[in-house]
Amino acid sequence: MSSNRDNTRAQFSTRIGVIATAVGSAIGLGNIWRFPYEAGSNGGGAFMLCYIFFICLLGIPLICAEFIIGRATRSNEIKAFEKLAPGRKWFLNGYIGVLASVLILSFYSVVAGWTLEFFLVAVTGHMPSNSAELHRFFSEFISGNWRPLIWTIVFLVVNYLVVCRGVQKGIERLSNCLMPAMTLLLIAFCVNSLFLPGASDGLRFLFSPDFSKIDSESLLSAMGQAFFSLSIGLGGMLTYASYFPDTVRLGSCATTTAVLDTFVAILAGVIIFPAVFTYGISPQSGPTLVFETLPAIFMNLPGGTIWATLFFFLLFLASITSTISMSEISIAYFEEERRLSRKKATALTIGIAILLGSVCALSFGPLSDMKIFGKTVFDLFDYVSSNICLPVGGIVTSIFVGWVIDRKVIDSQMGCRGQRGFGVRVLIVILRYIAPAAIMLIFLNSLGVL
Ligand code: PHE
Repeated sequence: MSSNRDNTRAQFSTRIGVIATAVGSAIGLGNIWRFPYEAGSNGGGAFMLCYIFFICLLGIPLICAEFIIGRATRSNEIKAFEKLAPGRKWFLNGYIGVLASVLILSFYSVVAGWTLEFFLVAVTGHMPSNSAELHRFFSEFISGNWRPLIWTIVFLVVNYLVVCRGVQKGIERLSNCLMPAMTLLLIAFCVNSLFLPGASDGLRFLFSPDFSKIDSESLLSAMGQAFFSLSIGLGGMLTYASYFPDTVRLGSCATTTAVLDTFVAILAGVIIFPAVFTYGISPQSGPTLVFETLPAIFMNLPGGTIWATLFFFLLFLASITSTISMSEISIAYFEEERRLSRKKATALTIGIAILLGSVCALSFGPLSDMKIFGKTVFDLFDYVSSNICLPVGGIVTSIFVGWVIDRKVIDSQMGCRGQRGFGVRVLIVILRYIAPAAIMLIFLNSLGVL
């Protein structure tokens, strides 16, 4: 572990390790599970264009903003806001982040648990091979009393064990070897999907925008998806940046992360939608879409069991590099602000996630009638965290970096020597004016105020 200014916090050791870890946090179920189902439910092409627009306009600047706060303070989220604006209330934003991270960890682990079930079914050679059977198998599985619950808990316990081993060892090693393998596999599946009979319909759905399908809700969803996928708005990138060495260039790390993350989401779309149209699955199936589509693709390939096994294993690993970063947000808080040992902080975080995650896991079955604001607990956690907490966090973070903190902090973190470069000037304009206004407008619009 490399030495550190205050010698109390761990630090990532290499530049490539830093990028791999940020990318590892960003790439996960958000790209492969959530993006296709959100795009499917919100009109396909037009949603994708809005999503890419938000990644560029808000995503990259907000990753930079979180990186700046995190590395300048080398603290957990709450302390970070306090250090840069002592005696003021900005740190309250940290609490929203901690809350959102626990909510996301809870429902995310349910879906990660589904990948474990599919992995097991694939490895034991029991994966159904046609879409009707698959539909029956999956519906029975998620509506069951035990299996989804057990897998959620198993996933969270594995997450606990990885996180307990500390920032650097656990996370860096996993991320470094995983991401390239995952991307190669996705590219191979992509090529395969292009030869499916429904390929042209699928690609048309994903790439030809029909803006009549975009309303205020889908705009909010596209923004929420951009935030979710980039792990921003709740301090995920902020917390990671607090472990970055001074040598890392924040702007290029942010851009690389966003580009790779978006690339993987588009790959996932190109894999899924041709298959959706080939196998007659509704693009609007919601959270179950990908789990009903992908196995049908694999099982129609020669050596299907092997592909399915490999894919669900990698998806599980991609999920865990993301949940590690979510967990880190509240663990760093409990450890540094509440003075718990790392083990206890981790146990507490995972314990809460197990409790909440269990309710989410059962909300496709025994608890499916338990509705709050017309949504199941799973959907509610997903909606509240992505479409409310993350954008609110985004507004606060951009105003904080754009207006509140000393410009010298931005300059030194962004590596400005002497004159401020064009990129940094654009960043400041976006953080000061454009991001808060755009997020606010989309919010008010979805509330029907505008
Ligand atoms: N970005 C992750 C994904 O796409 C999810 C995530 C959200 C991770 C928030 C950390 C914080 O899967």
